[in-house]
Amino acid sequence: MPYTKYACGCSPCSDSLLRRNRSCGSSCAAVPAQSRKGTGSVGLKIINRLQYGGSLENRLRFTLETAARVREAVGPSVPIAVRLGGADYLPGGSKEEDAAEGAALLEAAGVDLIDLSGGMCFYFRPGHLEPGYFSSMSEKVKARVSVPVLLTGGVQHAADAEKLLSSGKADLIGVGRALLKDAHWRETA
Ligand SMILES: Cc1cc2nc3c(=O)[nH]c(=O)nc-3n(C[C@H](O)[C@H](O)[C@H](O)COP(=O)(O)O)c2cc1C
Repeated sequence: MPYTKYACGCSPCSDSLLRRNRSCGSSCAAVPAQSRKGTGSVGLKIINRLQYGGSLENRLRFTLETAARVREAVGPSVPIAVRLGGADYLPGGSKEEDAAEGAALLEAAGVDLIDLSGGMCFYFRPGHLEPGYFSSMSEKVKARVSVPVLLTGGVQHAADAEKLLSSGKADLIGVGRALLKDAHWRETA
């Protein structure tokens, strides 16, 4: 399913991307809110101490404002996904419980899909390389929300994706590097 990422919630950005969204037949809008993207995230606990820092609500405020602006731009019928940097796994940083709490706030604000990432800058969980290495986070998030939860990270084989889905740890599985290595991964996985 093609979808358009909104770089931020400002009018020129949202409006021009909305036009692109429509012209390419995209059926979903996505707000990037992982640790190194402009919208910030629950993953910015350590460095985000200004106006939009502190409480979880404050740390998510920019993402929530962006999602609200995107909703205004796309209308009620287009689903909005948020790629959430849910936990940074650093001492004193954000935890998986923050991801669950944050996801609940996003759902309450009308977000239709929680697309999980984690780690501070990039998409890694220290000490973990197993398929679905953010699955303990997605499990906690799923326990708090009823919207679908997308889990990405370390999945290289379809069987691993199926296992994660059937264990109830996620509703959708994302595949990045395996597809980057092999464009025909879908047929051979
Ligand atoms: C070359 C490359 C570029 C990426 N760019 C983005 C990006 O722009 N936005 C994003 O949310 N994730 C990005 N990611 C992270 C992937 O979406 C994914 O979370 C990560 O690769 C882990 O999944 P994998 O183990 O299936 O590769 C990128 C990953 C790679 C390898």
